[in-house]
Amino acid sequence: MMSKLNISLKLYSEGKVSFYSTDLDHLRELGLAYTKAPVFYNPRMKLNRDITISLFSSLSLRTAADLMAASGVRALRLAAEGNAQEVLANDSDCLSAYVIKINVRLNGLNNIKVNCSDARLMADKMSWEGNRVGYIDLDPFGSPAPYLDSFLKAVKRGGIIGITATDTPPLFGLYPDKLFRFYGVWGKKFPFHKEFGIRALIYFVVRTAARFDLVAKPILSYGREHYVRTFFSMDKGALASSDLLKDNIGWIEYLGRDFKVIKGKDLPEKKDNILVGPVWIGNISDINIAKRIRPISDEASDLLKAIIVEAEGPPLYYILDNICSSMKTKVPKIREVISRLKELGYFASRTHLEPLGIKTNASRKDLEEIIEKL
Ligand SMILES: C[S@@+](CC[C@H](N)C(=O)[O-])C[C@H]1O[C@@H](n2cnc3c(N)ncnc32)[C@H](O)[C@@H]1O
Repeated sequence: MMSKLNISLKLYSEGKVSFYSTDLDHLRELGLAYTKAPVFYNPRMKLNRDITISLFSSLSLRTAADLMAASGVRALRLAAEGNAQEVLANDSDCLSAYVIKINVRLNGLNNIKVNCSDARLMADKMSWEGNRVGYIDLDPFGSPAPYLDSFLKAVKRGGIIGITATDTPPLFGLYPDKLFRFYGVWGKKFPFHKEFGIRALIYFVVRTAARFDLVAKPILSYGREHYVRTFFSMDKGALASSDLLKDNIGWIEYLGRDFKVIKGKDLPEKKDNILVGPVWIGNISDINIAKRIRPISDEASDLLKAIIVEAEGPPLYYILDNICSSMKTKVPKIREVISRLKELGYFASRTHLEPLGIKTNASRKDLEEIIEKL
């Protein structure tokens, strides 16, 4: 085990800030994974932070909190690149909080407050004292579920919460018991498991917010590597919260080969097919908001472009090579299948979630006929 007393720090830079965090090369030499870093930093989450900063500055939010701030890199970037007026950076690990203080000074920033406490206590204190923020980030190890009640209440009306979930095995239906225990969703692993996981997470967030008469609307969703992420706009209102649920909650009927989306909170009566949910069946991203976001990096720009195209499509997707393998035929070029679908008047796009995923309102049978003729 690495003692916190002889932790080696390294100077990193990301976006427009420089900061100290655990020397990850040294950690690797010791045979330890990056998750064991005394002060946590994952360079692979740069895109996650790029999107956060892009959204924060484009929507002209002013105040922000990262209550699980680790090295403080996200808070530093919100202050330096997102033009935040005031940022709160908190971590329950006081060594991390100490390093954040050093990093704040290193970047000459005077608009970041640093604190060492439990994130839920901090969020509850913020809402109790009326110090809600325009943007809050929920970025835990694993599931955001245990933190959600407190975090949702700490956002101003009209503000945004950005939620990362790295517990993708339960969300993607690999651990159905945990999916139900944490998110209240029945599911299993499907070909469209990544979007199913995003829809399960959104359902849980919208339902949790509804318990406080809060309205959490998903405005931007995506998945990458080991995580899924959704941003929600926050408002208050019992009626609006009920309506949001009524209009956007439903079930997925999995027919072995094809699937159907069924609207409504009540469990439909079905005998032979697999019925899973409840999940969010509405839009997972809001095209108009996504178009307003000015990306701060090429990677963020590529992702936003893909999200905007996909957002016009129906829920879920087919996987081209799965279909071809069941048809015992060779896999055609995905762009040819998509253009043929469009020629025939269907909606068709790729999904950023799967290299061979196709979003379309065509049925599986239609797709098979097209593939056969290509
Ligand atoms: C995934 S990291 C956050 C990374 C950071 N947001 C970033 O963008 O680099 C999770 C952090 O949460 C902290 N943490 C874990 N449980 C916590 C709790 N109950 N309250 C506050 N911080 C907590 C850990 O010490 C760790 O630094």
